[in-house]
Amino acid sequence: MDEIDQRKQWDSTYTSKADFFGQQPSDLGYRAVEIFKKNGCHRIVELGCGQGRDSMLFAREGFKVTALDYSESGICQIRERACKLCLDPNIECVVHDVRSGIPLPDASVDAIYSHMLFTMELWEKEISFILEECRRVLRPGGLNLYSVRNDHDPHFGKGPHKGEDMWQNPIGFVVHFFPEEKIRRLAKGYEIVHIREFDDPSPPFTKKLYEVLLKKA
Ligand SMILES: C[S@@+](CC[C@H](N)C(=O)[O-])C[C@H]1O[C@@H](n2cnc3c(N)ncnc32)[C@H](O)[C@@H]1O
Repeated sequence: MDEIDQRKQWDSTYTSKADFFGQQPSDLGYRAVEIFKKNGCHRIVELGCGQGRDSMLFAREGFKVTALDYSESGICQIRERACKLCLDPNIECVVHDVRSGIPLPDASVDAIYSHMLFTMELWEKEISFILEECRRVLRPGGLNLYSVRNDHDPHFGKGPHKGEDMWQNPIGFVVHFFPEEKIRRLAKGYEIVHIREFDDPSPPFTKKLYEVLLKKA
């Protein structure tokens, strides 16, 4: 697998298209706000934040957000928008590849959010390491809310196979699909609060995803 190519592809996609996933926050972002507020979360981290449609929502809602993505162009766009909207005190944006861990101290955050990051070109052993890193930086009782495309998705098993449950989609992104059993296997060390299937209609395709909510014991 050519990992550099995927990063370059995200960079050029974000450079050529402001709001690749649409101008509004995602439905999962709104659900996260509700869940995090109900559970008294203030300090959150978003992994694979893209162009920041959800990070900006979290900052507007008063959370303190650390937003990480390996696309420099995505991170620069978030910084500019946050500055224009005077939200910069609530959001720290960092260009960072999460395969090398999460650059934060142990037990320092209340919640972690990632919408369609684990469903990228990541091997299961890399996802397992990132989830372990999430557990390390979460405080006891902290939440990890993430989404992944599942094996009921129309693109599951289509296009060139890239290893494990990964296939390349028509616009060149490598997508990792998750049967429910894989999510359960990866939740080692967490309590599974729920796994819920939903449709995400945001562009460029309607996708079938699982929303996964994990809690650090
Ligand atoms: C499907 S997009 C979702 C973006 C954003 N969460 C949203 O829903 O608008 C996946 C994002 O993960 C980022 N990404 C993929 N692999 C990464 C890695 N190893 N480290 C950090 N970011 C990564 C990509 O740059 C891209 O922005």
